[in-house]
This record gives sequence, structure tokens and C-alpha cells, in this order.
Amino acid sequence: MTEITRDVVIIGAGASGLTAATDLKARGLTVAVLEARDRVGGRLWTDTIEGAMLEIGGQWVSPDQTALIETLDNLKLDTFSRYREGESIYIGRDGTHTRYSGDRFPVDAETAAEMDRLIVILDELAESVGATEPWAHPRAKELDSITWQAWLEENTDNIEARDNIGLFVAEAMLTKPRHAFSALQAILMAASAGSFSNLVDEDFILDKRVIGGLQQVPLRLAENLGEDVFLSQPVRRLEYTEDSVTAIADGITVHAKFAIMAVPPNLYSRVDYQPPLPRLKHQMHQHMSLGLVIKVHAVYETPFWREDGLSGTVFSPYQLVHEAYDNTNHEDPRGTLVGFVSDQHADGVFQQDAAARKAAILESLATYYGEQAKNPVVYYESDWGSEEWTRGAYATSFDMGGLERYGAMQSTPVGPIYWSSSDLAAEGFQHVDGAIRVGHDTAAAIIARHESQ
Ligand code: FDA
Repeated sequence: MTEITRDVVIIGAGASGLTAATDLKARGLTVAVLEARDRVGGRLWTDTIEGAMLEIGGQWVSPDQTALIETLDNLKLDTFSRYREGESIYIGRDGTHTRYSGDRFPVDAETAAEMDRLIVILDELAESVGATEPWAHPRAKELDSITWQAWLEENTDNIEARDNIGLFVAEAMLTKPRHAFSALQAILMAASAGSFSNLVDEDFILDKRVIGGLQQVPLRLAENLGEDVFLSQPVRRLEYTEDSVTAIADGITVHAKFAIMAVPPNLYSRVDYQPPLPRLKHQMHQHMSLGLVIKVHAVYETPFWREDGLSGTVFSPYQLVHEAYDNTNHEDPRGTLVGFVSDQHADGVFQQDAAARKAAILESLATYYGEQAKNPVVYYESDWGSEEWTRGAYATSFDMGGLERYGAMQSTPVGPIYWSSSDLAAEGFQHVDGAIRVGHDTAAAIIARHESQ
């Protein structure tokens, strides 16, 4: 067992932990980053599967994500735009298959008017509630006591409008069923992206990708940190006093002044804290859970849908794959589609064996793109639910009532232990941008405390 002493021990080499470590080191503090996996990046993972480069985890960058964009600039990483020329496809409640342009689904006039009306209400709520302290809003308790589904039912009788507006937060973002989280949580999601209108606009949310893959962010940050990053070192125990902490991993023990738990909140309880955490933290951690989505990658010899004038963008709350996009790599002659199977649909297909699941998912893709979609040359499902050091996708959110009840103390340090994750972010909540923002903020808080001692 190696034993070392540093100013700060960081648990988790994802975007958040590595950002914090980089800032701390730049201010002259000594750091050690302990990572459970044999790679850095956490939920960012770019890999080559059967000759195809795939973004197994996070990949997209939107224009409001200025912290991520600044990091990309600093690391000299270039981006390219998602392919979006041509028409999109929407499959409606009656099974009608419609081609359309723009960011509004081609629904009947009444449904379109209802969707527009709901978007206006949600934009106003997102602006008024904000992303920084949603729990402090005068309507926080009321909005956190009603499920997203119930809020939609209360605000419109139009089922298709409800299903579409519901999708933008449930299937597409929090990846939990609409009855499993609150309206306040949904409004936070919108506020953290700038507005509900932004969530509806896939050209905004899914704007750019990084050439060579987004995992280069953590890879380059880790490279710059050099020997301060220790892989395959799951931290099992944190022993702490008011001003010191010892992190005990499988092959290394780090004595430090501060610790940063830079892991998703659903994993906080995997570590044995001595002394145990305060009661409220114990309670809160049981109300933060990860969503579930399968990210499906299908690679074809050519992006055949483009020849048919299609952008590759498809949506339907009534399909197993509720959304899919052209995800062709930069300057790659082959064509890649990426589709998503969310929450209870994912539970359902995981009951099947791999062959039946693949057939069901390709059948759903074929409903949008035609029979050719059934024959990819490479097919891969990102299954984050079976990853021990994540346990779901994309991120963690509070269950019903949890945001109003505990949100105000989610980032409060316990003695020398700080918390850093995309899942605690205001702007960029549940996104890489948020992971980086919280990483910078956590480092700044520790630097201020260190310098005042
Ligand atoms: P992250 O989970 O990345 O890092 C935590 C690290 O801690 C991991 O490396 C883990 O192994 C480690 N760890 C856990 N327990 C430990 C222990 N006890 N000891 C030591 N180490 C431990 N975002 C976005 O902006 N655009 C996008 O397109 C997408 N798409 C997307 C798709 C999919 C499939 C996923 C899963 C996620 C996304 N996201 C995304 C979300 C984005 O990837 C995510 O918000 C951030 O990468 C999270 O970064 P963090 O550093 O907060 O946690």
C-alpha cells in the first residue's frame, strides 16, 4: 500500500474532478486524483468498436456551454457541426409519419397551438425559478409536489401536446418516467439550458461535436496532471476531522487537508465515511438517483438517409427509439445514426436477450428511416446501467419533493469534504459544461479556505 500526503485528494477523474485538480495545481496546491476505473473520463468515453469511433458517453456541445467551450479552446480541441441538412421525421400518436423542417413538430393546428402555449408558460417558469436556487422560489414546494406528468395533465387536455412537451425533459433529458420526478425538477432542467425553448430546439442543444471525441477533454487534463492521477484506485473509505482527511483506496492511501468527492451523487454512499456524514446528507443521498437510457449506435457503409433528403433527425414519443440523429464522425465516409431508448422502454428491452433487443431497436429505427436501417455494419448499445462506477445515464436528479427539501444543502461541504459533479450544477446541470463549472467553483472555494487558514 502506497501512502502519500497532498493538499487535496480528488475522488473521481471525470470532467469535474480533473477541472478542480487542474485549477488547484495551477494555484500551487498539491493534488492526487484517485480514479476507480482503469481510464479517465467517467461518463465521457470515446472508443473504437469494430473499427468505428463511437462516443459511448457524452458528446454534444451547445452554444450556451461557455465553460466547456473555454476548456475546449484551452486544450486546443476543434469542433464540427452536427449534420442537419434536409428534412426531419416525426411519427405522431396515430402512427402518421411526417417529414418536416424547423424545430416545431408537424402536428395538427390545435396540438401545435397547445405546444406553443405550454412552451411560453414553461419559458416564463424557467426564467422566474432560475437554475441557481430553484428550491428558494416561492412556488418551489408546490412545483416539487406535483409530478411532471400531473403538471402536464393539469395544463392541457391535449394528449399529443402533453406527450411531446413531456418528452423534451423526461425521455430526452432526465431519462426517468414523467411520473418519477417533479415539475420543479423539469423547470430546473429548462432553466439550466437557458430556457424551455432551448430544450425544444435540437439545433441549439445538439449543436457541435469535438473532432476526435469529447473524451479528449479528460484525457488531456489528466495528461497535464501527469503522475498526480492514479487509475484503478476505487476509494473505499474517507476518515476525516474538521481540517484533515485520509482517503483509502485499494492500493493507495492519501493524507490531505481537503477531499473532493467528484463522483455522481448516487455513488456517494458507496464510500464509508468516518465519522458518518450528518443525518441530512444521509437522507438527501437516498433521494438522488440516476436515470436510464440506452444510447444506440448504428454505423452504415454510407449515410443513406441523406440521399433521400433526410437530415437524420427523427422524433416520436410513441416509438421505442424516441429520438435519433445523424451522428456521422467528422470527414467519415460511413454514416452513423445514434438513437435513444429511455427509462421504462430501456427496462423493457433489457428483459430481452441481446439479439431480440437489437432486432426491436433496429425495427424502431427502420420505422423512421426504412428497411436499410436494419442492416448496420457496426451496432453497439452504450449500457451505462451496468457500469459499476456510474450505474445509469445520463445523470442524477432528485426524486419527488427532494429538490425543494434538500437542494439548498446539496453542495455544502462536510468538514474538509467537498462535492463536485455535473449533477450539482446550476447552468449546465447534468452536462459536461456543468461538471466543469462546478469543478472550477469547488476549486475556488478550497483555495479561498486554504488561503484564509
Ligand atoms: P463522471 O461520472 O463523468 O465522473 C466521475 C468519476 O468518478 C468516474 O470516472 C468514476 O469512475 C469515478 N468514481 C466513482 N466512484 C469512485 C470511487 N469510489 N473512487 C474513485 N473514483 C470513483 N453531457 C453533455 O454535455 N453532452 C452530451 O451529449 C451528453 N450525452 C451523454 C450521453 C451519455 C450516454 C451519458 C452517460 C452522459 C451524457 N452526458 C452528456 C452527461 C455528461 O457525460 C456528464 O454530465 C459528465 O460527463 C459528468 O462529469 P462528472 O465529472 O460530474 O462525473
